[in-house]
Amino acid sequence: MISLVGMPGSGKSTVGRHVARQLGVEFVDTDHLIEQRIGCSIREYFELHGEPAFRDVEQAVVSEATAMTHVGVMATGGGVVLREANRDLLRERTTVMYLRTMPDDLARRLRNDTHRPLLQGGGDAARRLRQLFQERDPLYRRAAHFVIETQRPSVHGLVNMVLMQVELAGLGRTSDGAAARP
Ligand code: S3P
Repeated sequence: MISLVGMPGSGKSTVGRHVARQLGVEFVDTDHLIEQRIGCSIREYFELHGEPAFRDVEQAVVSEATAMTHVGVMATGGGVVLREANRDLLRERTTVMYLRTMPDDLARRLRNDTHRPLLQGGGDAARRLRQLFQERDPLYRRAAHFVIETQRPSVHGLVNMVLMQVELAGLGRTSDGAAARP
């Protein structure tokens, strides 16, 4: 299984979906699985129960999702690397690709975002993203097998970069249609 990690807005879900389609494997998005489980939006859940409760659900979902043998590509939430247990699970069970985007590029992409709880509440989103990037860049690197720099390429360009790494790592399709393990 290939998993994509990186900051909010780095393109994990969009790129992951395209990569999965190209490889002919199943795609899963942990944020989507979390929303199915909690029965409301992540933003609402943050407001009602706070971030630690959200991280507990996230950890449980990551543990289950990384064991889904029918899945070939998985997109994760931007904060997944905050817990060591998640980093370990991802590294052990999947080939982790870090889509690395600079915070100012992210700020431009997320200008009109209303869904991401950590970027709401007014204030300077660009500054917040810089802060998050500083905290998390070392953690994404620690979790990742591959780092893909995404300055400003198109989705198409990014998808090709990921596919190239898949090729280099010898992670093509296996006979049962699933992406091979590392
Ligand atoms: C979060 C990122 C979100 C989502 C939650 C927390 C974070 O996912 O998991 O809002 O801590 O950065 P995206 O990376 O898809 O925005």
